[in-house]
Parts: sequence; structure tokens; C-alpha cells
Amino acid sequence: GSTLIVTIDGPAGVGKSTMAKALARHLSIPYLDTGAMFRSVAWKLGEGAWEWDEARLQAALDTIEYSLSGIGQDSVLSLNGTVIGDEIRTEEVGMWASNVATLPVVRTFLKKAQQDLGARFSLVAEGRDMGTVIFPDAPHKFFLDASVEERAVRRFKQLSAMGKPADVEELREQIARRDHQDRNRAVAPLKPADDAVVIDTTDLDKGQVLAALKEGVA
Ligand code: C5P
Repeated sequence: GSTLIVTIDGPAGVGKSTMAKALARHLSIPYLDTGAMFRSVAWKLGEGAWEWDEARLQAALDTIEYSLSGIGQDSVLSLNGTVIGDEIRTEEVGMWASNVATLPVVRTFLKKAQQDLGARFSLVAEGRDMGTVIFPDAPHKFFLDASVEERAVRRFKQLSAMGKPADVEELREQIARRDHQDRNRAVAPLKPADDAVVIDTTDLDKGQVLAALKEGVA
């Protein structure tokens, strides 16, 4: 298409959103947090929706519309006109998201929503399957990784900054469980695209990761 798409995939807590925002700012384009799409679907449908039959799920999905505005760190994603807020930013809702994310009917719905946004806007798109399934022709693809211990610490700091106290050891277990489900599902499992640049960020600070991303798109 005529839009520029940069994809950033990777496991939970690796810093995809932080990096996607910063790179989007550098490029003066919006960023798209597709995890927030899965989280907000899970949040809107509620706990246990992953056990609904397909017709009920589809009917619920058909009432959902996403919109995107703003650029860089100011990008705002809305569901039916309401800005998606911090209520989705818990490990519990993350696990709900991972549960609904195993369902083909949900993935098909969000795939269309994501590709529609990508046709209208240049994007730094971050998630699990951006480079493999949603934007396979993107000219720049990255896969960020880090040890599960380091990711638990990063998520702990992120939650603390939002005033949500957490336990690092519990986070480590939750993240490991969610990654396992995301890596082993049948549809669009978490994995680097063959043509992605893989960056192990375990021992890198934010500035170093951003420098690598900027160099990759230059
Ligand atoms: O990135 P985040 O932790 O917000 O994503 C929440 C969950 O949504 C992930 O654990 C994953 O199961 C799902 N997801 C996905 N595909 C994406 C983005 C997120 O399956 N592109």
C-alpha cells in the first residue's frame, strides 16, 4: 500500500509499547498497540467469553469498532469512541486477552480491524503476529526479546508507575504462563517473522534499543 508499516513483535513485558511509541514519534506516524485491542475485547466481553459459542462471540464482536488518532506517543486508540484506558493493564486482563486470542473468530475480526487501520495510516504496529500474519509485506520488522526475569522486572516497574503494586515473582510466573500459551497456540503463534531483525534487549537500556530500531528503519 501507500502507507509505511513497521512491525514490532515479541513476548509480554519486553517493552514493545515503549519502543513502538518512541519509534513512531521519531517517524512522526501513529503507533498501534494491538495487545490493547485483544485486551479491550476481553475486557468488554468479560471473563469466560472464551467459552462462548462462535455465534455469540461473533455477534458481540460485530458491535465493536476501533478508531485511531494522534501521532507517536500521543496516539490514542478508542473502542466505540471511548478511549481505552488503564483498566485493561493488569496481568489478569492480559491472561483474558491471551485466552480470547486463541480463538480464530476473534483473530479474524481483529486482523481485519488492524489491516484496515494499516491501509489508512502509516503505523508502528506492535503485538505478537504483526510481522508474520497481519503485515507480512512490511518493509521493516523487529522482534524484541528478553529473559523472563528481566521482563517481570520491567512489567513490575510499569505497573508501579501506574500505582498498581505487584509481586515480581508472581509476575514472572504469570508472564511465563501467558507466553507459553501465546507461543503454542494453533493460530498466529508468537514467533519472529523469517525476515525480522531479532534484538535481545535483556542487557540493553531503552536508548540502546531505540538506537537499534532507528538504525533499522534508516
Ligand atoms: O501485548 P499485550 O501483553 O498487551 O497483549 C495481550 C495479549 O494479547 C497477549 O498475551 C496475546 O495473547 C494477545 N495478542 C495477540 N496478538 C497480538 C497482540 C496481542 O495474540 N498481535
